[in-house]
Amino acid sequence: MKYIVGNWKMHGTAAALEEIRGLAGAVPDGVDVAVCPPFTLIERAARVAEGTRLAIGAQNLHASEKGAHTGDISASMLADAGASLVIVGHSERRADCGESDHIVHAKAEAALAAGLTTILCVGETEAERDASRAEAVVATQLAGSCPGSADGLVIAYEPVWAIGTGRTPTPEDVRAMHAHVRHDLVLRYGDAGQAVRILYGGSVNPGNAATLLAIPDVDGALVGGASLTAAGLLAIAAAAPTG
Ligand code: PGA
Repeated sequence: MKYIVGNWKMHGTAAALEEIRGLAGAVPDGVDVAVCPPFTLIERAARVAEGTRLAIGAQNLHASEKGAHTGDISASMLADAGASLVIVGHSERRADCGESDHIVHAKAEAALAAGLTTILCVGETEAERDASRAEAVVATQLAGSCPGSADGLVIAYEPVWAIGTGRTPTPEDVRAMHAHVRHDLVLRYGDAGQAVRILYGGSVNPGNAATLLAIPDVDGALVGGASLTAAGLLAIAAAAPTG
């Protein structure tokens, strides 16, 4: 089943719970849908989504279980608030907060240990793609940040230059990178690597979703801007092949 995940980033106050309500009642059969609102909305969003096919997640966590980490949130706190998934290693956190592969690895291990589905993001910058280094960069990120077990792991390939820009790679470039990631996962995890879902992210919208989601080894989408309304995310979910 395709997996469509909204990443609200730093958007959303109580009024946005209306969008969660709209989504929760309308998730189509044959597609898994989740939304990751800011921390402040997780508990309320989870209540709204309770008993529906909409999952609620977080955008980040701290690798430690508890302790003197002012302003941080642990995996068990997320689970306690009603989150069932978490994004780690988003390029905005790698860039804004200096998150290294080592840190992302620790976060992924902590999230999986708490039973959270863990969406680990990788992707090259435009300069790296122009230098024909995209596959090498992604391989290095996977090597440095993948957890020891594939159970509960999801990978999101998000070219940095495609995020929030309205630009996407060609379908052939997406196909090639997803095949490359799949190959890496199978080498790393054996058969379990075949079952890891690989999402594409970066300027996915209702207009391009059907094309992107039909590409081999594109098992879903991580969606930023177009996920802020129920209508936007539902239109993307509706474009996903079911089954
Ligand atoms: P975008 O963001 O869909 O707005 O490009 C995707 C992401 O950063 O996850």
